[in-house]
Amino acid sequence: MNTRITQLLGIEYPIIQGGMAWVAEHHLAAAVSEAGGLGLIGGANAPGEVVREEIRKAKKLTDKPIGVNVMLLSPHAEDVAKVIVEEGVKVVTTGAGNPEKYMEMWKAAGIKVIPVVASVALAKRMERYGADAVVAEGCESGGHIGEQTTMTLVPQVADAVSIPVIAAGGIGDGRGIAAAFMLGAEAVQIGTRFVVSKESIVHDNYKQRIIKAKDIDSAVTGRTHGHPVRSLRNQMTRQYVKLEEEGKSFEELEYLTLGTLRNAVLEGDVINGTVMAGQIAGMISKEQTCKEMIEEMMEQAGKLLGR
Ligand SMILES: Cc1cc2nc3c(=O)[nH]c(=O)nc-3n(C[C@H](O)[C@H](O)[C@H](O)COP(=O)(O)O)c2cc1C
Repeated sequence: MNTRITQLLGIEYPIIQGGMAWVAEHHLAAAVSEAGGLGLIGGANAPGEVVREEIRKAKKLTDKPIGVNVMLLSPHAEDVAKVIVEEGVKVVTTGAGNPEKYMEMWKAAGIKVIPVVASVALAKRMERYGADAVVAEGCESGGHIGEQTTMTLVPQVADAVSIPVIAAGGIGDGRGIAAAFMLGAEAVQIGTRFVVSKESIVHDNYKQRIIKAKDIDSAVTGRTHGHPVRSLRNQMTRQYVKLEEEGKSFEELEYLTLGTLRNAVLEGDVINGTVMAGQIAGMISKEQTCKEMIEEMMEQAGKLLGR
């Protein structure tokens, strides 16, 4: 499936792995890129030097392109933005905000810039500032989310911009990819399914929670203070939502989530940890290599799209 995105990024398949905080480290990114998609290293809240090491380690595992996701709310975002240029990274995606202030530096270095957007307005603005493509991410997805669903957001963004659109949120098999293409996307970004890949370093407790999850097993915390996050229901989400309903402030709730994604990913704390995952978790039933996942999804999508 040759699209403007496969050409832009020099990849075989129109599949991008989400730059997931703590999860998207060099093993996962390299495995997805080796399998013909685009692997991303998640910059998250990590200092620039940590991201630099991750980029170098990924490059030892693959000659194929890899990208970096910059989490714009991170206190280290500026350092990470510079490291990306210094390390010769070819693709950057950005999450949680507006990357305008780095755009000139990245474009001057020939880096392809792909902001993640949750609205038509931000997509148009990013196009005006020179973005090469946008990821339109619906609220089915794991992690920080917007308000629109993938089904409604992707076609509206595709109509509003002329740069290519990558659909994200709730895509976990070839049917999802085919549907995204029908909505006007030219590639997809997948997070939750890659969390359970064999190459993902995520603790087995976390993977098993996703594998055993049902369709209704995710919950959104943080809606009341404007930073909604989707993760799998557990003691933490129940407590968080209860306190939100009681009208507690962000500052009073912050202790419940500080460091808890790390605890879930590395220590396997799926009770009080933040088990970020999307609504598609209910459909994900097994651990496979990234190559197996990508080939299975592409074969199914190809048949459905008659390609
Ligand atoms: C564990 C986890 C962590 C995530 N962290 C980030 C992040 O740091 N930055 C970002 O832009 N997106 C992040 N995301 C969103 C993914 O990059 C991707 O867009 C999303 O997972 C796609 O939806 P899906 O989960 O339904 O496949 C995260 C998602 C998950 C599941």
